[in-house]
Amino acid sequence: MRTIAVMNQKGGVGKTTSSVNVAAGLAVAGKKVLLVDLDPQGHGSLHLGVEAVGDIPTIYDVFTGHKPLSAVRHLVAENLWVAPSNVDLAAA
Ligand SMILES: Nc1ncnc2c1ncn2[C@@H]1O[C@H](COP(=O)(O)OP(=O)(O)OP(=O)(O)O)[C@@H](O)[C@H]1O
Ligand SMILES: [Mg+2]
Repeated sequence: MRTIAVMNQKGGVGKTTSSVNVAAGLAVAGKKVLLVDLDPQGHGSLHLGVEAVGDIPTIYDVFTGHKPLSAVRHLVAENLWVAPSNVDLAAA
């Protein structure tokens, strides 16, 4: 398994766009990909069609020890899963 982290302190420089498209490209190339959205804005999740509202478990539940990563991931396309986030993550 390989982990690719996309991070930059500066806003609006293409972190989300890069993350989502690298994830999608790797999935199309046959890799099994889990995009872990670690931004409380949740834009990566939204981009992949998951709006983490209501009772949908998020990466917050993983960080706080309430759920395993396997319980919060969503299959959004062939070979592509997303572990979504929302503003709750800011409290973790
Ligand atoms: N390679 C690119 N070429 C042109 N525009 C781009 C490119 N990558 C991203 N953008 C545009 O730049 C803007 C910011 O991109 P994005 O939301 O991915 O940045 P971000 O770093 O995730 O921002 P934030 O700090 O708010 O999370 C968006 O309007 C996006 O469409
Ligand atoms: Mg972003």
